[in-house]
Amino acid sequence: MNVYDSERMGDLAAGAGYGEAARAEDADLIVLNTCHIRERASEKIFSELGKLRALKEERARSGRRTTLVVAGCVAQAEGAEILRRQPAVDIVVGPQSYHRLPELLREARVRPGVVDTDFPPEDKFSYLPAAPPDAIRRRGVSAFVTVQEGCDKFCSFCVVPYTRGAEASRPLRAVLDEIAHLAQAGVREVTLIGQNVNAYHGTDGEGRRAGLAGLIRAAASVPGIARVRYTTSHPADMSDDLIEAHRDAPALAPYLHLPVQSGSDHVLRSMNRRHTAAGYLDIVARVRAARPDIALSSDFIVGYPGETGADFDETLALVRTVGFASAYAFKYSPRPGTPAADMPAQIDAATKERRLAALQALIEDQRQAFNRASVGRRLEVLFEKPGKREGQIAGRSPYMQAVFAEGPASLIGALEQVEIVAAEAHSLRGRVVAPAS
Ligand code: 5AD
Ligand code: SF4
Repeated sequence: MNVYDSERMGDLAAGAGYGEAARAEDADLIVLNTCHIRERASEKIFSELGKLRALKEERARSGRRTTLVVAGCVAQAEGAEILRRQPAVDIVVGPQSYHRLPELLREARVRPGVVDTDFPPEDKFSYLPAAPPDAIRRRGVSAFVTVQEGCDKFCSFCVVPYTRGAEASRPLRAVLDEIAHLAQAGVREVTLIGQNVNAYHGTDGEGRRAGLAGLIRAAASVPGIARVRYTTSHPADMSDDLIEAHRDAPALAPYLHLPVQSGSDHVLRSMNRRHTAAGYLDIVARVRAARPDIALSSDFIVGYPGETGADFDETLALVRTVGFASAYAFKYSPRPGTPAADMPAQIDAATKERRLAALQALIEDQRQAFNRASVGRRLEVLFEKPGKREGQIAGRSPYMQAVFAEGPASLIGALEQVEIVAAEAHSLRGRVVAPAS
């Protein structure tokens, strides 16, 4: 979502007369769009800001003014504290008020040190300009579209409900207009995004309610759109009609990122996750019944307060049972203001490290096994960009695997049948079967 928000801020800045700079040294406006989800992401900002202050001073010595903006969820969570820790910052703006960036830029010219971390009553999206077609083309044939934001789940470890706010869905029409605009500029694949995307509840033109499945079907029918993806989902909102869409909506990619966080019911309860390990496995079984080849992905947290060795073993067991195509594992990071941060029985760093390494090794084995199983198959690849080597093009399989093949740049933006010939460390190598003329 930060990628999407950054693009929108780029579009707002373009409207205010800014163009893109290749290097920070050349930029009159620098926006750090920040993430607060784990402490490490959050702390990185301040070392980065230290460097940018030096850059700002150096540019000032040659008479150039630099406006420094901190946006995103660290801005939301820390507000004016950011100005105290780094006075070189001109603007602090949260994820729900960045549509006001042009006004804030004007304000900061007169009075630097502006903070806007409101959750304004107006809908941010209706104030965001449509991306210029050349910017869309530069960003590529696969685009993100935010359809839902915020979260009401309040998992005990998570800052999202506090930084992004309450769950809110965009109207179906607004999302479809945005997708049509992207498709007209050459976008072939959209990923519908939201912190809790399968809680999406929009209304169509006639006031009928539409869930994520309805939105996916409507998005797939936009001329030019060949593939639809969505992320991130919560197990509790995995509705039957969404699972059905995996059976009968051909444009919906066979890939599901469904975070489980832990395989232990004791930990899941303490995390306030609203599902059990068995409940998760049941969803996986139903999704696989609808779409047997679906690639599954997940998020895990290790070292959550109170997690015992036996709890962790249950996580490993769940991973073995499911067999993931890929997954992300994180060490639990206490976040200020969340219930888990104050729980007793915080886990020591060495234990977290050990569990992370064991889980990541298992996930890596499964990822490689999944990729090896693709060798010899024909997969439909959407080519997105030139490859690393001359004469190569790169894209993604329906299962989100990176695929490289020899081929002309004219195939970028095309969906091609590709025979997979080898699984390399982080990608698949393939041969285009029938290049379009
Ligand atoms: N510590 C570690 N990982 C976290 N995540 C969210 N909050 C925390 C935290 N406090 C992880 C979850 C979530 C992903 C986006 O980030 O696994 O699904
Ligand atoms: Fe955070 Fe996801 Fe839980 Fe919402 S559902 S609180 S975003 S981990």
